Amino acid sequence: MRDFYFSYPTRIYFMDDALTKAKKEFEGIKKRVLLVYGQGSIKRNGIYEKVMAILKECDKEVIEFKDVMPNPTYAKVLEGIKIAKENKIDFILAVGGGSVIDCAKVIATGACYEEDLWEMEFNKKINPQRSLPLGAILTAAGTGSEMNDIGVITNEAVGIKKGMKAKAPLFSILDVGYTLSLKRRQLFSGAFDTLSHSLECYFGNSDRDCVSDDIALAIAKNCVMNIYHLLNDENDLIARRNLMWDSAMAENGLTKIGKDLDFMTHKMEHQLAVYTDCNHGEGLAIIQPAYYEYIKDKASQKMLKMSKVVFDKNTVDEGLKAFRKLIKDMGLPASFKELRSRATIDDEILEKVASSVSIVTTVPYVLNREEILEILKSCR
Ligand code: NZQ
Ligand code: ZN
Repeated sequence: MRDFYFSYPTRIYFMDDALTKAKKEFEGIKKRVLLVYGQGSIKRNGIYEKVMAILKECDKEVIEFKDVMPNPTYAKVLEGIKIAKENKIDFILAVGGGSVIDCAKVIATGACYEEDLWEMEFNKKINPQRSLPLGAILTAAGTGSEMNDIGVITNEAVGIKKGMKAKAPLFSILDVGYTLSLKRRQLFSGAFDTLSHSLECYFGNSDRDCVSDDIALAIAKNCVMNIYHLLNDENDLIARRNLMWDSAMAENGLTKIGKDLDFMTHKMEHQLAVYTDCNHGEGLAIIQPAYYEYIKDKASQKMLKMSKVVFDKNTVDEGLKAFRKLIKDMGLPASFKELRSRATIDDEILEKVASSVSIVTTVPYVLNREEILEILKSCR
């Protein structure tokens, strides 16, 4: 275990009918609420009415900010910040998946500053400290945004998708009932994202016998088991509840304590999404096995432990084979050809991704840009 500081602010309501049971949270917030949501799913599945009803019962004034897109853009964040300021918002309530919660978090931060957040964080290297209070109602599990302090945003003007520092939600409502309307594609994409996070945490450098590594692998193993339950029966509520909590566990910091992180796959996927607007879990499902294939001899100890613990296999090659089989069974794309993308993924795009990605150095094997390009090309 290396030195660490750990603290967590988020209160979790993981239960059926969580919205009603969490009523005291809504009673406790100030008057003017910015309700942030996506492109209509919460209206189609009835969550919107439920949320509006509870806000009305608690005598809140609601200003809506909608149409947050998957892979939210910085332009959308700026639009939200302007509305939050103009309406003197007291509290932000995000209702949606990772994209909505991320966008809302960064709006909550930006509403407390006059300065441009991107400039402040990435050019001046100052992490913002202030934020409006925020609560989250999760409708799609996977990203862990419901319990962490990051908002992943695409800045189209500079061609970078990146995690921006934000405050974690003060409370998050995790009611599996709100996720039942998810399309199969997003259900499995989210589950893969969780699996990916746990493995990304595990693969960062760590001291011997690090409990954070063991927790990460336990979450990964649990994810795989529950994904197979879902493949048998998509309506298996026990599996869906397990995966919902795995999502928060893999990204709430517990697997990151006292060690380094990998997240090289994520960094590649984020840059790929800048040019393709691809679905996050689907992009990861293509890149992660290719990355592991490339580093398998260079990070052999970690690779072998993962193969044994997560996939119950005695060799790295068997472990990687099981990983690829899982991805195929989930119906996730296995190559860029199968990826839904707004642009044809040609060498020019891959070169742009490889040259703009930030390289993780806290891993058993540090890639250079040529190697990143080679890995990306192996995904074609
Ligand atoms: O926009 P709406 O209408 O809500 O539809 C969404 C969207 O089309 C739909 N959806 C969500 N809940 C639903 C539903 N449809 C039916 N029923 C429901 N209950 O699902 C689609 C995808 O939603 P999105 O929020 O984009 O998915 P996800 O939760 O996978 O979030 C992806 C974003 O999170 C970022 C990703 O990069 C991506 O931008 N990440 C955030 C992280 C974080 N904050 O720590 C970490 C992750 O690694 C990731 O980078
Ligand atoms: Zn992710």
